[in-house]
Amino acid sequence: MLATKSITEEILDLKRRRNAILLAHHYQEPEIQELADVVGDSLELARKARQFEGEVIAFCGVWFMAETAKILNPERIVVVPDPEAGCSLVDCCPAEHLRAYRRRHPDHVIVSYINTSAEVKAESDILCTSRNAVDVVNSIPPEKTILFVPDRNLGLYVKHKTGRDNLKIWQGSCVVHATFSARRLAAAKERFPNALVAAHPESPQETLRQADFIGSTSAIIRWCVEHPGKEFIIVTESGVNFSLQRLAPDKKFHFVQNEQCNCSECPYMKKNSLEKLRDCLEKLEPRVELPEEIMKRALVPLERMLAVTTRK
Ligand code: 13P
Ligand code: SF4
Repeated sequence: MLATKSITEEILDLKRRRNAILLAHHYQEPEIQELADVVGDSLELARKARQFEGEVIAFCGVWFMAETAKILNPERIVVVPDPEAGCSLVDCCPAEHLRAYRRRHPDHVIVSYINTSAEVKAESDILCTSRNAVDVVNSIPPEKTILFVPDRNLGLYVKHKTGRDNLKIWQGSCVVHATFSARRLAAAKERFPNALVAAHPESPQETLRQADFIGSTSAIIRWCVEHPGKEFIIVTESGVNFSLQRLAPDKKFHFVQNEQCNCSECPYMKKNSLEKLRDCLEKLEPRVELPEEIMKRALVPLERMLAVTTRK
C-alpha cells in the first residue's frame, strides 16, 4: 500500500513544483510559521517580496499584505490561503473618503499605514509600517501638514515621538490592539511584578505609557530576546509567542488579553490554515489581482517608504 503524504509534505512538494516562496506574518498559526521561508513583520515581508525572483508568492498573512507583495511583483502570481483574511484598519478608510479629504486639502502630505487597501495606497504620498512610521514622518519637511491614515493609536504615538503638531490623524483602529486596555495591563503587571512590558504601537496611549518598549512585531521579539530580563508581558497578538519560545526558551512570556474577545488573537490572521495553504498552492487560487493603474500609482509611495532608512 502506498503511504499517504502528510499535509506538510504536500505543501513542500507543491512549493517546489510551483517555484514558490512562502511568506508568513508573525501572527500566523505556528504550523504555518514552521513551514514558511520567511517569517516577519510587515516591513520585512514587503522587503522580501521585493527581492523575490521565483514564480509564485504564497502569502500567509492578511489581504493588504498580499496586495503589497503583488504591487511589488505585478508580473508574478500572488496567492493567499483565505481571501476573507481582512483587517479592521483597512475597513476604516474607504478610498473615496480619502479622495474627498485630498480634494479639500490638496497641500497635506498623506502618510498611509501599510494596513490600507491598494486603492488607498494609490492616493497616498508615502506609506509606513509600525516599524518605520516615526522615520517616515521625520523624512517629511517640518513645515508640511501631514494626514496620518488610518490608525489613530499609531498616529498619536508617532505625533508624540516626532513632536509634529501639524499631524492630523484619521480615526481608525485595530480590533485587536485598540482594546488592550490600560486596566488589563495594570492587572497583568500586578500579577507579574517582575515582568517588563513590550507593546505594539496600535495599542491605546494609556496602555503604551505603561510599556518599557514599544515596537513592531519583529522589534518586540528582538527586544525580548536580547534583553537580559527573564520575564515579559506582551501587548500584541499571541502569534509572536512562536518566535519568542523558539529564540528564548528560558524566558517567560505573558500575553495581555484584550477587552474585545478576552484573547490576544487576530480573527483575520487566524483564518488561514495548512489545508487552505495547500489548496491555494495547488489551484493557484485565490489570487491577488489588481488594476494595473492602481498598482503603478501605489508603487510610488511604497518605494518611497522602502527608501527611508529605518533605525530599528
Ligand atoms: P507589524 O508591522 O508590526 O508586523 O504589524 C502589522 C499588524 O497588522 C499589526 O497588527
Ligand atoms: Fe489588522 Fe489588527 Fe489584525 Fe493587524 S491585528 S491584521 S491591524 S485587525
